[in-house]
Amino acid sequence: MKFFIDTANLEQIEEAIALGIIDGVTTNPSLIAKEGLQGENAIMQRYVDICNLVDGDISAEVVATDFEGIVREGEMLAELSPKIVVKVPMIKDGVKALNYFTQQGIRTNCTLVFSAGQALLAAKAGATYVSPFIGRIDDITWNGMDLIAQIIEIYANYGLETEILAASIRSSLHIVQCAELGVDVVTCPLKPILGLLKHPLTDIGLEKFLADARKSRS
Ligand code: E4P
Repeated sequence: MKFFIDTANLEQIEEAIALGIIDGVTTNPSLIAKEGLQGENAIMQRYVDICNLVDGDISAEVVATDFEGIVREGEMLAELSPKIVVKVPMIKDGVKALNYFTQQGIRTNCTLVFSAGQALLAAKAGATYVSPFIGRIDDITWNGMDLIAQIIEIYANYGLETEILAASIRSSLHIVQCAELGVDVVTCPLKPILGLLKHPLTDIGLEKFLADARKSRS
């Protein structure tokens, strides 16, 4: 399973890279806004900076909602680097644009996916990745993981090649559940990834080993 980091923050990306387990980055307009970047040049420069740091796919999202606008923005983003994956919302013109980008050889990530039907459409349009938002589904007391299982089954039924990129991950447990289901990629902030490290028996065991090591060295 690939691990992407869901941030536009360079320090957080560097920290994740230092761990040696990061395969890519996803961003969205809210994450970009959080960085306080002003103007299109600053935003484009941030994508370039991320591409220079990371050896992997970088999702950059369009903000247009009409076909022509999505295509214009997506082509501009794709020109920044071969690492860029154009993130397109699951709307009618978005599906049309996914198909267009596929024909042009531009890789895509279909975002804001909340149902199996939407995931099926994204794959039919040739999306490279589909991003079901687990956490936001859990937030409304539905089960995000049920959706992941449904998409896996549907894609397997027809050998659809779109990779499932589980997004909106809120906990380390989400990551483990995705791995159990065989998800292709998870994207999340660094915290749930670091949470995977934790186990009280590891801490207790290490404390004992270090205490015993001190005894045999004193
Ligand atoms: C990633 O591609 C999504 O934009 C992101 O995971 C959404 O996460 P959130 O629901 O925590 O905002």
